[in-house]
Amino acid sequence: MIDKLLFWKKKKEISGDLLEEVQKHPVPRHIAIIMDGNGRWAKKRAMPRIAGHHEGTKVVQRITRIADKLGVEVLTLYAFSTENWKRPQGEVDYLMKLPEQMFSTFLPELIEKNVRVQTIGNFDKLPSHTQRAVQKAMDDTKHNTGLILNFALNYGSRDEMVQAVRKIAEECKENQLDANDINEETIASHLMTNKIEDPDLLIRTSGEIRISNFMLWQIAYSELWFTNVLWPDFTEEHLVQAIYDFQHRGRRFGGI
Ligand code: FPP
Repeated sequence: MIDKLLFWKKKKEISGDLLEEVQKHPVPRHIAIIMDGNGRWAKKRAMPRIAGHHEGTKVVQRITRIADKLGVEVLTLYAFSTENWKRPQGEVDYLMKLPEQMFSTFLPELIEKNVRVQTIGNFDKLPSHTQRAVQKAMDDTKHNTGLILNFALNYGSRDEMVQAVRKIAEECKENQLDANDINEETIASHLMTNKIEDPDLLIRTSGEIRISNFMLWQIAYSELWFTNVLWPDFTEEHLVQAIYDFQHRGRRFGGI
């Protein structure tokens, strides 16, 4: 049992009791996070919105470290939705540069810590420089067996479902699949998350109480945890609190 949790690099300690408490119980195997509030964080400081995204990227790294330390198996982060293309071009361009920026320093650490980078979303529609940076991170970590750090990039749940239905229809047309045999497993296996268990815990920051087209199928039985904290202010302690709350809810999956 780890008495005190040391972060990989900063050697900072999370203060005690709650952390010790969550380590006594199973942690959620898959945590998904809607990282929201970067723009408002920047606005409050009279800074450009991209300053919020810059700060938010640091939080991505801190939350990855603590999730890994706690033994979370999958961390899915909603980094760019299919709707985010509607933002001003300058902001989109900045967001598309973030993977390169982040992985230039973070990737060696991920490799060392046995973290595997994956993505869900329409990868091919990302700018080529973004694809290159993310592909390199995926390639360089593909044999890692620890935490899966799964970025939802150009991801939308309805779009994912449309693609899944098309594939299933195609397989029926080609007589590879009988329509009567389509079940939940068929659908799940045609989604972009097909090799990943559903999230146990979904977190959304910034006070918005909605799902915004994120993993609609996969969160059918997830525990939902909302906080007013803006993503750039989200700390390791907030994650530990969310996990603590998760551990104290009764998950019945429709049973009694
Ligand atoms: C939502 O805040 C945040 C985003 C759309 C982008 C999230 C991206 C990061 C945290 C950066 C890390 C990503 C990678 C791939 C390294 P918002 O801009 O909608 O905030 P607002 O609702 O306050 O305007």
